[in-house]
Amino acid sequence: MEKQLKIKSLRLESPLILAPLAGYTDLAFRLLCHQFGAGLCYTEMISCHGLVYQKERTLRMTKTISEESPVALQLFGSDPDMMGQAAALVSDMPYDIIDINMGCPVRKVTKKGSGAALMKDSRLAATIISEVCKNTNLPVTVKIRTGWNHDSIVAPEFAKMAEDNGASAIAVHGRTWSQGFGGQVDWQTISRVKKNVSIPVIGNGDVDTYHKAVQLMAKTGCDGIMIGRAALGNPWVFTPEGIPSTLTKRMAGLKRHLEIIQEFNNPDKILPKIRNQAGRYFKGIAGGSSIRRQIYEAKSLDEIIKLAESI
Ligand SMILES: Cc1cc2nc3c(=O)[nH]c(=O)nc-3n(C[C@H](O)[C@H](O)[C@H](O)COP(=O)(O)O)c2cc1C
Repeated sequence: MEKQLKIKSLRLESPLILAPLAGYTDLAFRLLCHQFGAGLCYTEMISCHGLVYQKERTLRMTKTISEESPVALQLFGSDPDMMGQAAALVSDMPYDIIDINMGCPVRKVTKKGSGAALMKDSRLAATIISEVCKNTNLPVTVKIRTGWNHDSIVAPEFAKMAEDNGASAIAVHGRTWSQGFGGQVDWQTISRVKKNVSIPVIGNGDVDTYHKAVQLMAKTGCDGIMIGRAALGNPWVFTPEGIPSTLTKRMAGLKRHLEIIQEFNNPDKILPKIRNQAGRYFKGIAGGSSIRRQIYEAKSLDEIIKLAESI
């Protein structure tokens, strides 16, 4: 791809980026998307408290290996001091970028003042960004929404504030908090963000093919595009060829994913999650529903691998 995305001194091979998806963007899935051409992959959101207090579950979520570089760890929290301490800890790990979550709409997160709630408190958000930047030499990115609701589309000013406080790039999901995941993606506001800052801007929302990503970059001036849900069961979304139309080729992609899962996990502990991910490879394809049923009935990862090998 012609477009070059550079975040501080980090030059990405592709401007197409895997979005953070809680419950999905673990090491195995990130590695898979990296192998299929994603220029950068984000972890699931990681609690700054969990990291500072070294909670076992949180530490498990921070697992990374050098082969997946470049990779960004996404932090969430609303306490500037805790966020700074967490940033210092991440800086000692082999991560390339620290991202701050200022877009998550989930009530469990916003009621504690984190995620998208920070878009209502620009001052606190500024303190968090500068505290994180003070505690790391890694580039810091901030992931935001367009605003809290239709009456408060603040993304352009908010992004400028983030830049002024040390952010090296901004990712914008083109929806407000109140929209959740419904309604239209507002690419016009994303374009306005791009015009208002001089750091790279990464557009996000409902992009489901490589070619759509290329078109949107041309249309909005965005420096990169982040892809989330469309990558599930479809790591080919990062390639110009896109998702294959034959079962055999889809099985080959799934098999690669399962092999990576096997390498880094105890599959018995995460079987429901594996079934969920595996079933997604067969959406919208003839014969897919019968395979999905067999996957959901499988009692082990080996059984799913055998199924993948039999097709
Ligand atoms: C299941 C799920 C989990 C998500 N988890 C996160 C998260 O941990 N951090 C974050 O910033 N955004 C999270 N998001 C939002 C996505 O990163 C992305 O902004 C949104 O899904 C829109 O992009 P898409 O249409 O390409 O999926 C999540 C979205 C979904 C559907």
